[in-house]
Amino acid sequence: MIKIRVPATSANLGPGFDCLGLALNIWNEVSFEPAEKLSYHVTGEGAEKLNKGTKNLLTKAFTLLHEVCGREMRGASIQAKNEILISSGLGSSAAAIVSGLFGANEMLGKPLNEVELLKLATEMEGHPDNVAPALLGGLVISVVSDDEIITRRYEIPEFTIVIVKPDVEWLTKTARAVLPKSVSRADSIYNIGRTTLVVDALRNGDLDLLQKVMDDRIHQPYRLKHISGGMTAYKIAKQFGAAALSGAGPSIIAFVPPENAEQAKAEIQSVFEKLGIESRGIITKPGSAGVHCL
Ligand code: HSE
Repeated sequence: MIKIRVPATSANLGPGFDCLGLALNIWNEVSFEPAEKLSYHVTGEGAEKLNKGTKNLLTKAFTLLHEVCGREMRGASIQAKNEILISSGLGSSAAAIVSGLFGANEMLGKPLNEVELLKLATEMEGHPDNVAPALLGGLVISVVSDDEIITRRYEIPEFTIVIVKPDVEWLTKTARAVLPKSVSRADSIYNIGRTTLVVDALRNGDLDLLQKVMDDRIHQPYRLKHISGGMTAYKIAKQFGAAALSGAGPSIIAFVPPENAEQAKAEIQSVFEKLGIESRGIITKPGSAGVHCL
């Protein structure tokens, strides 16, 4: 039997749309046991939704890896203990893809290397910014080149991170559909400089700089206005430190001084509460490890 764990991830980190991602200290644990047929069962986050039907991203990824390697899929009993909130902007689909690919690869004696796994995962997800840190851990910059995904991975200091996920309907498909097809030169310049400085601030543990540069003009303004309470919650989060929409949302992620974390979480959640929207609040840290065997 193989047991693995895979981290939640927060993509974009403000201006780094589709390029930056950070692994978090929130994990799904998945075990794979050889069996006659392929079966899948989840406990924890999203169990009710994920246990419906037999096909999901994890089993698809598990099957795909066998196909790509030209190996017969003999079946497996897959059990997942999920901690990553689903439909939240915390990389639950990337975690499912990465665990399916990684688990199958381990069971087959590692026919694919990390670079090949990343390429497959990116093809399944459509962009590399969540799957790359789910695989590699830490802060990851990823760029899709002609036929490879170029990445650089960095360990970052122990920031305190607050995440608030409002209980609103917000599909990734919608979150991409609301974006403009093109952006202006001014907005591109705005984001390019800030993206490089977000990486610098994260690597150096510089919360003051992060607070000044974690801003975006190419996706957040278009998305936040469709998320009830989103813009107000984001503005409140910024009062405590550096804030962004986590991935495509709807969660807000804030990097705050440790002593203010509880208050930040409570005040961000109260924005949604006033609108009659339930929310979940989490205080966590960056995760330095990517998917690995236990
Ligand atoms: N970069 C992606 C986006 C992450 O913002 O749409 C979510 O899948």
